[in-house]
Amino acid sequence: MSTTGEKPVVLSLEGATIQFGGLIAVNNATFELQQGDLFGLIGPNGAGKTTCFNLITGVYKPTSGTIRFQGKEIGGLTPAKIAQMGICRTFQNIRLFPALSVVENVVVGAFLRHRTTLGSAFAYLPSSIRETSALKKEAMDLLEVMDLADVAQARSADLPYGKQRRLEIARAMATRPDLILLDEPAAGMNPQEKEDLQVTVRRIRDDFQKTVLLIEHDMRFVMGLCERIFVLDHGEEIAQGPPEKIRNDPKVIEAYLGEAV
Ligand SMILES: Nc1ncnc2c1ncn2[C@@H]1O[C@H](COP(=O)(O)OP(=O)(O)OP(=O)(O)O)[C@@H](O)[C@H]1O
Ligand SMILES: [Mg+2]
Repeated sequence: MSTTGEKPVVLSLEGATIQFGGLIAVNNATFELQQGDLFGLIGPNGAGKTTCFNLITGVYKPTSGTIRFQGKEIGGLTPAKIAQMGICRTFQNIRLFPALSVVENVVVGAFLRHRTTLGSAFAYLPSSIRETSALKKEAMDLLEVMDLADVAQARSADLPYGKQRRLEIARAMATRPDLILLDEPAAGMNPQEKEDLQVTVRRIRDDFQKTVLLIEHDMRFVMGLCERIFVLDHGEEIAQGPPEKIRNDPKVIEAYLGEAV
C-alpha cells in the first residue's frame, strides 16, 4: 500500500474518466483519500458526483484512468467483488427492504460479509437463524451508535426519512467496510438531524476507524465536517483542498452562483 506522509492511501483515482455516448460525465478525476479522511465530493446538480461513486463501486467501468483501493486496481471489477474488498455505500435514493424491520435491514448488511449481493443475502436469511441471532446483537449495537435502537422493531418503511437515511448508514457499516461512501446522507433532514448526523459521521471515523467519502449539497454540512473537498462541475475538477480554500475559490463561487458557500 502506498503512503503519503504518515497515513496509508486508501483510495486513489488517477485520470478516472467515463463517457456515456457524447457526454463525458466524469473527466480525468484525480484525487486521493488517506486512511481516516473525511473527504467531501461536491458540485452542482449533474456534475458527476454519483457517477464517481458508481465508478468506485464498480457499477460502471471507467472509460480510461485508474482507480485503486488499498493499492489494488479496482476499476472495472464487479460491485460484489469491490464490496467484498471493503468498500460500501449508501444511495442518493434510499434503498432499504421496506417490509423488513429496522434491525433486520442491518442484519442483511451483516450477511453481505458472507454473501455477494443484497438479494442473495436476503434469500439466505430464513435458513440461518442461529447466525442471525449473533448478527442481531451486532446489528443492535450499530443501531445504538446510529441512535435507532428505540425503533429497532419498526418496519423500515414506517420510519421518517431522516431515520431511513441513518439506517442505510447502519446497514453499510454492518458490512464492516474500510471505506464508506455516503451519497447525500443529509438530504431531507432538518437542521437538528443534520447536526446529529455530523456527530455520527465523525464517530464513524474516530471510533470505528473508517475512511469516509461523502457527497452533499448542504455547504454548511460539508464545510463543517470534511477536512478535504473535491469540487466537480460538468464532470471536471474545478478545485480541491481544505474547506477554507474551497469556500474562497472563485471557480467554486461561480459554479454555485447565488448560493452561500
Ligand atoms: N448511465 C448513464 N447514462 C447516461 N448518462 C448518465 C448516466 N449516469 C449519469 N449520467 C449523466 O451524467 C451526468 C452526471 O450525473 P450524476 O448523477 O453523476 O450527477 P450528480 O453530480 O450526482 O448530480 P445530483 O447532484 O443531481 O445528484 C448527468 O448529466 C447524467 O445525466
Ligand atoms: Mg447524485
